[in-house]
Amino acid sequence: MAFGLSSIGAANIPKNADEPLTGRAFLAPTVLRNMSSKPHVVEVNITAAPTRMSLQPGVTTDVFAYNGQIPGPTLDVQEGDSVVIHFQNKLSEATTVHWHGLHIPAEQDGSPFNPLAPGEKHDYVFVIKHGTAGTYWYHPHPDMRSGYQVAMGLYGGIIIRAADDPLPKSLTDKLIVLGDNRFLPDGSIDFPALRSPQGIIDENNGREGNVIFVNGQIMPTITIRPGEVQRWRVVNASASRIYRLALQGQTLLQVGTDGGLFEKPEEVNEILLANSERVEFLVRGTGKPGSVALLQTLPYDRYSPQTKPADWNHPRDLLTLKYSTETPVRPIAIPAHLRTIPVLDTTKATATRTISLSQGLINGKMMDMNRVDVTAPLSATEIWTVENLVGMDHPFHLHGFQFQILDRNGVPEKDRRWKDTVNVPKHETVRFVVKYNDFPGLWMFHCHILDHEDHGMMGVLQVK
Ligand code: C2O
Ligand code: CU
Ligand code: CU
Repeated sequence: MAFGLSSIGAANIPKNADEPLTGRAFLAPTVLRNMSSKPHVVEVNITAAPTRMSLQPGVTTDVFAYNGQIPGPTLDVQEGDSVVIHFQNKLSEATTVHWHGLHIPAEQDGSPFNPLAPGEKHDYVFVIKHGTAGTYWYHPHPDMRSGYQVAMGLYGGIIIRAADDPLPKSLTDKLIVLGDNRFLPDGSIDFPALRSPQGIIDENNGREGNVIFVNGQIMPTITIRPGEVQRWRVVNASASRIYRLALQGQTLLQVGTDGGLFEKPEEVNEILLANSERVEFLVRGTGKPGSVALLQTLPYDRYSPQTKPADWNHPRDLLTLKYSTETPVRPIAIPAHLRTIPVLDTTKATATRTISLSQGLINGKMMDMNRVDVTAPLSATEIWTVENLVGMDHPFHLHGFQFQILDRNGVPEKDRRWKDTVNVPKHETVRFVVKYNDFPGLWMFHCHILDHEDHGMMGVLQVK
């Protein structure tokens, strides 16, 4: 073991304990083992527990981890699967597991309404709907503690696959879960006191970390053969950092977003990935044999001027793409049409909701677990106008239902896509249409800067 892990018992030592060091070969998170042998049934165990591991060279850190790993192991399922997750909370505080973006019953959503006490066991049970193939993630969602528990290490990826996926099966599939963190010199995670100068900055900006992790690794290397096409699925699991992804010298062929594939691929130079958003894109091995290209996050000003970090305008490197010296392969053909996304008919909308975001508040109010903010009938189609009244971006997320963006600042969205989170930039307005096609119950909507969410920038939608 490279960096003297403390004696926590072999069972708890993460598989990648001596791997998360700078410049190593890229590692995908491990996949949750399916214990069921029945077809279309997935049965897995997830335990959240404190442990200690090496996240950076030379030091160990007290963390929380799902199954001893950061990120947690990937839930990898097929459309139509019945999923049973045997979850156990071995933390000394309440938690939940929220299946971000999944279209499942409200009681299974792991929202703050269903906390699990220390020591408690709970089965999350749901069916993966057809048409929902895509990249999602899971994370804790206890009242006022989500930011803390995610910072401690609780987050993991979800991949839903479709039997009729239009992209060639031969593409190498890479799950990339992005997180960031900040540490004290002794390796412990830096949580400043609430009223300290840094605590005030964290409360405003959301807690941002100077160390960026790619699947728990720092600057790993992905190898590609010239001409090879790879399918990258990226999750922004950071509490507040917004990524502006760009691959040096190459364009990306974006094929999907939060709720799965686009109708058609789109050639882009860069992709803005706000908190909790996901993206799928193809990296076409257009570089020369033996060359390298960096995946970077470019500067993006989401901040208010008062709390903008000094280094905000520096690009940051995320990973190295390294071209092998093998003879180039002939690039595989990518279909021009991926799927047809059903239209949510705005003429059927029975209500228009205005959601005003200000610093820490939604419609001027702080979150109250005993208050329902929006009530809507089952099967209704509604339009939500989300306006950001302040000079800082707020990524807005709705639980349970994927929506379609209509326009941003009055400019119509050119393509139809399924989204569960949309960044609402400073002083801008985004409109979307949503249909509550099933699953009555209480659903959250909130800013996905976790510090904002924890401090009350959240509301409750009741579908009945
Ligand atoms: Cu990522 Cu309320 O969730
Ligand atoms: Cu969610
Ligand atoms: Cu916010």
